[in-house]
Order: sequence, then C-alpha cells, then structure tokens
Amino acid sequence: MEQMRLQKYLSECGVASRRAAEGMIAEGRVAVDGVTVSEMGFKVTGRERITVDGKPVKPERNRIYIMMNKPVSVLSSVSDDRGRKCVVDLIDGLKERVYPVGRLDYDTSGLLLLTNDGDFTKKMTHPSSEIWKTYEAVVRGEPNEGNVRRFAEGLELDDGPALPALLSVIGHRGSNAVAEIRIREGRNRQVRRMMEAIKHPVLKLKRVGFGTLELDPALKPGAWRYLTDDELRRLAACAENPAHEKDRTLSGLSRDSGK
Ligand code: URA
Repeated sequence: MEQMRLQKYLSECGVASRRAAEGMIAEGRVAVDGVTVSEMGFKVTGRERITVDGKPVKPERNRIYIMMNKPVSVLSSVSDDRGRKCVVDLIDGLKERVYPVGRLDYDTSGLLLLTNDGDFTKKMTHPSSEIWKTYEAVVRGEPNEGNVRRFAEGLELDDGPALPALLSVIGHRGSNAVAEIRIREGRNRQVRRMMEAIKHPVLKLKRVGFGTLELDPALKPGAWRYLTDDELRRLAACAENPAHEKDRTLSGLSRDSGK
C-alpha cells in the first residue's frame, strides 16, 4: 500500500471522519508501532501496528452507507466523554465501524448519513461540493418577503457572509411559522444563526433533505436503513457536478435536483 496520512488511514478504517481522526491524533490517542503520534503530517503504509486508545485498527473492506432519522438528544458522534448517547449507539448488528457524515446539532433531528468511507465523507462535506441541505423549522413569528430576500442575497453572519439560501413559509403553528430552509453550506449551527439574524429564532429543527436524498418517511426517529445503489449513485453525481447548478438562479432551483 502506498503511503497516506494517518488521519486518512484512520478514516478508511472506519474509525472516524478525517477531521475527527485529526482530533484523536491531537489528543494523543493514536499510536504507530507503540509510539504515540501527534504530528498531523505523519504518513503510514498500513503495514504498521496502528492503535486508537490501545485498540488495533484495520482497513474496512465492506463499504457501508446508511441513512438515519436522528432523534433529538443524541450526539452526531462516535463517542462522548460526557457519556451522552451517540448516533452509533443506535446501530445494532453491524460489525463495521461507521461514523456520521458531518453533523446535526444535539437538538436537531432528521436525515443523517453514516459511513465508513472516508472519500465519500470528504465529497459530501467539502465546501466546494455545495450540496443543498433542506430543513424544516418551527420558527418564532412569521418571516416576511424582506427576510426571504435577505436569505436569497446571502445573510451576513459573524463568521462571514452565507451563500445565497432559500427560505419559505410552508405552514403555521399557532402564532409561529413552519419554514423550509435550504442551504448549501454546513457551518456550525448555521440555520439557527441565520434565523436569529432575521429575528425569527428556531424553536424546532429537522433536516429533511440532503442533496438528492429525502428523509425516508418510513424511518421513525432513531431508525436507519442502507442507501440503495441508485441513491448512492445519484448522490455521488450531485456532489461531483456542482458547477452547472451554481450558475442557476436560486428561484430556478428544483427540489428534485438536490443541488
Ligand atoms: N443548522 C443548524 O443550525 N443546526 C443543525 O443541526 C444543522 C444545520
């Protein structure tokens, strides 16, 4: 096997995403041939004895792709030092180790992908892929046309301007609105921060779409299923071909395209 960075090797072994594996290395949890490695550029061939928390890791042969309906009060992570329940705890009977593709907040529910495929994770989460994510939110009050316009123009956030996004009111809950929000970034608590910026804070948040995928209505909170080959193929194609979609006007975007 040719040399590769330790964090890439760990993600290919299904230990964690590359980013999370970097965290494990920085925390001194990873050793190569008995020596703890904390250097990020460290390369391995896979012939070494590589351990995480003292346990040997091996490459996964079977690639796994899962759609879960994440419940609230569960962490999008493989482990938690505070003992909170993690999404991987909801997956029984799988011998391969999988990890979440990106994350949903502790208090967000809905469509979460899990895999042991590091390249897939990178494609799905890389900012250049600009995959559209669709959320349904109960928000305080009712956003107006001006708010919709500000979303479409790109809201100013404290970590820089957001890419143009879509906001529409699709229902009501008493004096509050149910909104559909579509963004093509994955910044920390982005939807909540965008809604705060227009003074209609999120009361409840659920992800219902990711690229070409829609949350399977048959999945109850906490349930999961494998992606079909067709779903996987369409999702990979949408991540690989963002350019034509970037040129479209926001109002011309169709929900079916996923981009
Ligand atoms: N935006 C948020 O604010 N939270 C999530 O969990 C996902 C997107």
